[in-house]
Amino acid sequence: MAKVGIFFGTDTGNTRKIAKAIHKQLGDAADKPVNINKATVDDLLAYDVLILGSPTYGEGELPGLSAGHESESWEEFLPTLSGADFSGKAVALFGLGDQVGYAGHFVDALGFLFDAFSDAGANVIGFTSTEGYAFKKSKAVLEDQFVGLALDEDNEKALTEGRLSAWLADISSAWA
Ligand SMILES: Cc1cc2nc3c(=O)[nH]c(=O)nc-3n(C[C@H](O)[C@H](O)[C@H](O)COP(=O)(O)O)c2cc1C
Repeated sequence: MAKVGIFFGTDTGNTRKIAKAIHKQLGDAADKPVNINKATVDDLLAYDVLILGSPTYGEGELPGLSAGHESESWEEFLPTLSGADFSGKAVALFGLGDQVGYAGHFVDALGFLFDAFSDAGANVIGFTSTEGYAFKKSKAVLEDQFVGLALDEDNEKALTEGRLSAWLADISSAWA
């Protein structure tokens, strides 16, 4: 069975909460979620399958020091991927955002994670439909699909559980 690792960035805790919910649903299939500010590239490379989560801050930015956060996060981690080889790894991305307040930058951070891990050779899985969302623009959209799962705890909290379950069922073939 493939080893599944869950890593997340967060400022106010929403993304940690979703990471924990994912861990709960996966049970023994996955290790406990780890904040990306406590992880190294080698920690990620220890897994066959990675589930990576990030909120978006600023106007379409990664969480981290530039966004005014107290701790480092994906902003500081992504440059450390330079030269790393993630070929043979399956990577599934989930992003938290606010499609009403930031309609022009909805879950942009997912797009940055997609670019960075694709460049490192990973196979990014778990694309989802943009149907049912109301945003104007997103760097997380590629050929009409999100490059991962988009969640909006600010405006559509009630939809999160269903969206998450459907996505986990979709990507579960990566470790089952
Ligand atoms: C200052 C600020 C800037 C934000 N910028 C964006 C943005 O550009 N795009 C977006 O989709 N969401 C944006 N959001 C919404 C957050 O991504 C959302 O609230 C998320 O759930 C926070 O996750 P966290 O609790 O894990 O930090 C912003 C929120 C704040 C407070």
